[in-house]
Amino acid sequence: MESFYIVGGSSLEGEVEIDTAKNSLLPILAGCILVDGEILLENVPKYSDVLYMCMILEHLGGKTKFTQGKFANQDLYIDCRDIIYSDVPNELACKVRSSIFTLGSILGRKKIAKVSYPGGCDIGLRPIDIHLSGLKQMGCKVVDKNGYIYADGSKLRSGDVMLSFPSVGATENIMMLATLTEGESRIFNPAREPEIVDLQNFLNSCGAKITGAGSNLITIKGVKKLHGCEYQAISDRIEAGTFLIAGAMCGKELVVKNVNQEHNQELLAKLSKTVCNLICDDDRIIISRTRRPLSFGEVETAVYPGFPTDLQAPMFALASISDGYSLIIENLFEARFKHIGELLKMGCDIRCKNGVCIVKGKEKIYGAEVNVPDLRGGAALTLAGLVAEGYTTINNVELIDRGYFHLEDKLSSLGAHVKRIKCEKKVDNCS
Ligand code: UD1
Repeated sequence: MESFYIVGGSSLEGEVEIDTAKNSLLPILAGCILVDGEILLENVPKYSDVLYMCMILEHLGGKTKFTQGKFANQDLYIDCRDIIYSDVPNELACKVRSSIFTLGSILGRKKIAKVSYPGGCDIGLRPIDIHLSGLKQMGCKVVDKNGYIYADGSKLRSGDVMLSFPSVGATENIMMLATLTEGESRIFNPAREPEIVDLQNFLNSCGAKITGAGSNLITIKGVKKLHGCEYQAISDRIEAGTFLIAGAMCGKELVVKNVNQEHNQELLAKLSKTVCNLICDDDRIIISRTRRPLSFGEVETAVYPGFPTDLQAPMFALASISDGYSLIIENLFEARFKHIGELLKMGCDIRCKNGVCIVKGKEKIYGAEVNVPDLRGGAALTLAGLVAEGYTTINNVELIDRGYFHLEDKLSSLGAHVKRIKCEKKVDNCS
């Protein structure tokens, strides 16, 4: 097990470059299964979730290779021309939620797929019924047996797919399935997240004909084949948001670079209420504060363009030291509150009932030994550790590595005291 050891109390000062978005890279990697050519993905951080997706591509018969390019992170070559298998076994699927995205792309390419139920962060039930309903609406036969989805696409057809809820993963799965399916398919009530637009742009760079991503209707005109391309995915709005929240908590003059401000509008509106100084300038945001933040008031998670559920946990860290009461409501994942028990160990004052939490900001919170419950919960504990009095040990930081690349190094370069240490014991509270 690895832990972060944090000495609290430093201010953050300097520049931090936001990495390429994990939630764009994962569906794009699944999309590579559709492509009959070489792909170069530029500037790819080695998030552990990305490495797991590469293992799945290799298992299917694809090739993946990191090489040094012109960016800070390496480029990733992918060649799925010789994909021979159509199954994703449990031992690979259980590592990463996005393994389920391969259902649409394997089925699109091979017309048959056997994919295990996915793993990922333990933040709720996370059913896949909307994915499966979409497959069925396109004529696939789907059998759900012994933890595996068996999908037969021999009678696959284009057409209209209505999603009962704008699920991000289901939208991406159906987009990929429809890409190589003859005729025109339309997705009604799709998710509108920027990562959906990014998947559309990637697939179109490979020769797909997709329009409407980011709106209420996505149209896909099936093509026979996709060709290779070079592509750089968008910057990670959740990593950007995490650093902006850190800036509101303890930023002296923190320059967050490579941010798309439009993708973080809801967060910026909340941060402006804390009365920190925010200067938004092209793709960088400078954030600083000279006094204790005021409460941001209320945050309620929603599908994009609403407030992202992935930033809900970090907002608890900010609320815990802000002046006044804050209200935080989670609407997407019923079990996404496991960080609260850990924050209580640090002296935070949080009360919750039926998904609604009230946080009373404290002048001081204290270092403690805490355990990462899931990826974004881990980010929240790290932010709390930065401002806590004394030392904080955060166990199980491998879960943070799923979606932040060398978070401790980035924070240390800004003046924080964060070290990664190896520990003997294992904390077994995570999926
Ligand atoms: C994606 C993101 C994740 C983010 C989430 C919501 C990736 C790799 N992950 O996850 O970081 O927190 O969007 O913005 O992009 N649901 C069903 N049935 C389904 C599918 C979803 O009931 O078939 C429910 C889920 O349980 C959840 C809600 O819909 O309550 C949203 O899930 P979804 O949008 O599918 O999230 P993911 O794609 O898993």
